[in-house]
Amino acid sequence: MTLAQVHATPGVAAYMAEVEAGLARAVAARPGLAEEVSGEALAAGGKRLRPLLCFLTARGEPPVAAGVAVEMVHMATLVHDDLVDGARLRRGLPAAWSVYGADAAKAAGDYLYARAFGVLVETGDDQAVSTLAEAALCLARGEAMQKLQTHDPDTAIDAYVERCMLKTGKLIEAACLLGSGGDESLGQYGVALGLAFQIADDILDCAGQTQETGKIPGTDLREGTPTMPLLFAAREDEVVRDALAGGPLDGALLRVAATGAIEQSRDWALDYAARARSYLGEHPHREELEALTYAVVDRAG
Ligand code: IPE
Ligand code: IPE
Ligand code: MG
Ligand code: MG
Repeated sequence: MTLAQVHATPGVAAYMAEVEAGLARAVAARPGLAEEVSGEALAAGGKRLRPLLCFLTARGEPPVAAGVAVEMVHMATLVHDDLVDGARLRRGLPAAWSVYGADAAKAAGDYLYARAFGVLVETGDDQAVSTLAEAALCLARGEAMQKLQTHDPDTAIDAYVERCMLKTGKLIEAACLLGSGGDESLGQYGVALGLAFQIADDILDCAGQTQETGKIPGTDLREGTPTMPLLFAAREDEVVRDALAGGPLDGALLRVAATGAIEQSRDWALDYAARARSYLGEHPHREELEALTYAVVDRAG
């Protein structure tokens, strides 16, 4: 099953349309600068992977509020993350901070966080709120951990994996838990899927195309963020090692591609994808959930 076929699954289009409408409503709640900036971030699109997971993991009626809330937390982190990472392009458009400045981007991210929880609280589902709150806390911890690891080419792979689990895995886990009403195996599936997804993202930062990712490659190396491909490359190549530690960047990204680091990282991503599949049991959308484990690794954007 291909990703296009996953999107063509009966009910997906209608659910995603409801999520889009819910997002627009949630963002419009309080007119002002934060609403304007958030509205633009929302309109820029994105893959909407997390709401899709809410739909696919549900056994009955898929929860729309959960899809809206989890995507809004994701958007909040991206608005903040681009500021922290000095990333100028997001979803093919100028990042919020580069248009409106740092203060507006911080306010917009906070606004998105606040509205996400506002939407979820309205459902009266305390368990869902607490799941999303835990994921949001993990996200912040993951980003903090990344700051501490900056410019350290000796960052252990374990520490990198822990950071990715916190900053990416936990929110994807939350999407699966919210969709399934707390199915722990599907939560585990989400964590493993999230790790595969983040490793693939880190590969795309080294070897991807702006036209497809909507982002500018080389941001991680420039910021000294020790991602898996950069860590593996630094073991083989002194120039990459120095660049990651904060030295000159000239030619370093090309040298990453010349090592085996991309292929090695891809193998790790494939391993996590296989692990994700191993958590899948009998489920009405098992095939679609399986297809996603392949799609997150083999993607161009
Ligand atoms: C980007 O997430 C941030 C990571 C966790 C790697 P996505 O790749 O899901 O971003 P959009 O929503 O599709 O733009
Ligand atoms: C993912 O990390 C960001 C969060 C999960 C908050 P990245 O910094 O690699 O994401 P991109 O590449 O900017 O989308
Ligand atoms: Mg970033
Ligand atoms: Mg990235």
